[in-house]
Amino acid sequence: MAGGTGVVGRHTVTAARDAGHDVVVLSRSAGVDVLTGVGLAGALQGVDAVIDVTNTTTLSAAKAIEFFETATRTLLAAEEAAGVGHHVALSIVGIDGIDASYYAGKLAQERAVAAGPVPFTVARAAQFHEFAGQLLSGMRGPVAVMPKLLMRPVAAREVGAHLVRVAAGAAVGRARDLVGPRDEVLADAARRQLAFDGVRRRVLAVRLPGAYGRGLASGSLRGGADALQGEVTFDEWLRSGDHTPA
Ligand SMILES: NC(=O)c1ccc[n+]([C@@H]2O[C@H](COP(=O)([O-])OP(=O)(O)OC[C@H]3O[C@@H](n4cnc5c(N)ncnc54)[C@H](OP(=O)(O)O)[C@@H]3O)[C@@H](O)[C@H]2O)c1
Repeated sequence: MAGGTGVVGRHTVTAARDAGHDVVVLSRSAGVDVLTGVGLAGALQGVDAVIDVTNTTTLSAAKAIEFFETATRTLLAAEEAAGVGHHVALSIVGIDGIDASYYAGKLAQERAVAAGPVPFTVARAAQFHEFAGQLLSGMRGPVAVMPKLLMRPVAAREVGAHLVRVAAGAAVGRARDLVGPRDEVLADAARRQLAFDGVRRRVLAVRLPGAYGRGLASGSLRGGADALQGEVTFDEWLRSGDHTPA
């Protein structure tokens, strides 16, 4: 599990162990770096499938492309050498028309996976219920500024279980999209989360410039009618043990 210590990675590790799989976590804190390759060869011995949920936090297209291309190429070369039979990459629903900012990195990752030597499945999910909290915890001060974003968020726990099912199956190139049960506006979700946590903080929604901002606001990240749908709503997730205050 590349990125097995992250927001979705932790749930993916739990889902894989619950399904009876032996799990190896690939993360820098576990001594493995997917950019430099340090620790990868040893960690991949005897591994059947790799789920890549590594991440970098940036709005720079160049930095995102650099991270996701390098991580993917490094992982795939080590997987080929170790005889790994299935590479599963987690990407994001609805990003096709938004080849900008962070999403340029995710599209570059999808292309690198498809061009690589290991049988693969790209599995796309919508924004996690955890996403508003990830943004809130990355900002200081009494006012949090959020991009205008219309989304259909899904619980990271459900994404983790989905990724494990995908990885246990055959490599099919592209899995069905996974979205949540309801539409949400990111800033509203952030306000409800702060109110639930008893935190007094204002949330401002701003339309980001360019193709990225247009894409976020357009609703295209909600996916289509053919997507698989998670069950847990944002408000149910807020009340669940999976939510920890930002
Ligand atoms: N957040 C969302 O709403 C959302 C929605 C759909 C899809 N996704 C996708 O889901 C993936 C995971 O997102 P997340 O929010 O769960 O990420 P996250 O919480 O930021 O976790 C990132 C993980 O990557 C690992 N990592 C980072 N750099 C690494 C390196 N050089 N070598 C090895 N491991 C490294 C981190 O561990 P160490 O720091 O220990 O290295 C950590 O386990 C991303 O690809 C993202 O595009 C996210």
